Amino acid sequence: MRVLLIGSGGREHALAFGLRADSIVTELHCAPGNPGIEELATLHQLDILNNQAVVDLATQLNPDLIVIGPEAPLVNGVVDVLRSAGFITFGPSKAAAQLEGSKNFAKEVMNDAGVPTARSFLCVDQREIEKALDHFGAPYVVKDDGLAGGKGVVVTDDRDEALRHALSCEKVVIEEFLNGAEISLFGISDGKTIVAMQPAQDFKRAYDHDEGPNTGGMGAYSPLPWAPSDIVEQVHTQVLAPVVAEMAARGTPFVGLLYAGLALTDHGLKVIEFNARFGDPETQVLIPRLLTPLATLLYKAATRDLAEVELAWKSESAVTVVLAAEGYPSSPVLGGQISTLPAIHCTEIFHASTAHSEVGLVSQGGRVLSVTGSGADLTEARNCAYRGISQIQLAGSYYRTDIALNASVAEKGN
Ligand code: AMP
Ligand code: GLY
Repeated sequence: MRVLLIGSGGREHALAFGLRADSIVTELHCAPGNPGIEELATLHQLDILNNQAVVDLATQLNPDLIVIGPEAPLVNGVVDVLRSAGFITFGPSKAAAQLEGSKNFAKEVMNDAGVPTARSFLCVDQREIEKALDHFGAPYVVKDDGLAGGKGVVVTDDRDEALRHALSCEKVVIEEFLNGAEISLFGISDGKTIVAMQPAQDFKRAYDHDEGPNTGGMGAYSPLPWAPSDIVEQVHTQVLAPVVAEMAARGTPFVGLLYAGLALTDHGLKVIEFNARFGDPETQVLIPRLLTPLATLLYKAATRDLAEVELAWKSESAVTVVLAAEGYPSSPVLGGQISTLPAIHCTEIFHASTAHSEVGLVSQGGRVLSVTGSGADLTEARNCAYRGISQIQLAGSYYRTDIALNASVAEKGN
């Protein structure tokens, strides 16, 4: 099978790692890719937001399967044009990607499907905004309705800050604050059947003890030894299956990866958000644990053939720790030289924003790479990940030291 993967981040590096490990894959291409993915795939230059350019590349390579990594091309309708050109593509159509592209659309689908989520109001002017803020009270949760590259959500006790953010959005969703542990659980959908993956947890704040600004994600781990034993089944029956059924009933079936961000509250699980693609950095812990061949699985999803599929997982745990550039997330310093990457048997290094230069590998973005460690339990997996990341030098860079720490301590205590 010839596979074309679209994207260039740490998530795509992990997907390339999984695709390459599937013996059905004879050729792997990636556009635009990065220096890490280059070890696994043939790279092609591409403006992924130019739908015609994506179709042109696909026509040139004639892949049996195309996998779209990031949300922006999905929301831009790339899957619609690829499917009309006859390509088998893993990823939702433009209409279905609105589950991520519009917070209010996601709320409407959840309401119609009876899926538990925070109560919310869609507001368009200051009067409505203030009414909604005062209705729910602090902490205020204010969400830009549209795609905002991870900067759309503000959670704050400061009413002025909440109001300021709300007024800066064209349309804004204001919702009730959900109290409880957050988890990420992904389903792979063929439009009718959705197969749930194992849960993961990511760490959104920049610094240890969940302090500092929000980021794209500073680390993740899986599985979650502390979560209820039937969590996968609960999320499947309460969230994933009803959403897929609702999208099909609306005539816009969701084919691709449905990412549910959930809060486990005292009143049961509730959806915080949907994404229409694999999460980053959760993918960097899930793919190394997945035994089911990835290309075969995504091909079955893209060809409406998931009815008989059950996923198989390694019993091992995985922990990934992100190396962030100095100044990330507000103003990351780019172009720093990265020391030789260590080769340790229990780790995989996934590049997120690196580039080749005359002096060797350099950083090209805020989240530079992540090191995934695997082990019999979270403690072993953490030790591996931290052994790996501590051997990488990049001036001014930093990483969190507490990824999966509480969970590993709790696991040992059991
Ligand atoms: P999002 O960009 O939608 O993932 O939101 C970013 C983060 O904001 C989430 O990971 C949560 O930590 C937080 N958040 C979003 N919605 C809520 C909510 N209703 N209650 C509490 N926290 C929330
Ligand atoms: N891990 C958060 C995201 O992928 O949006």
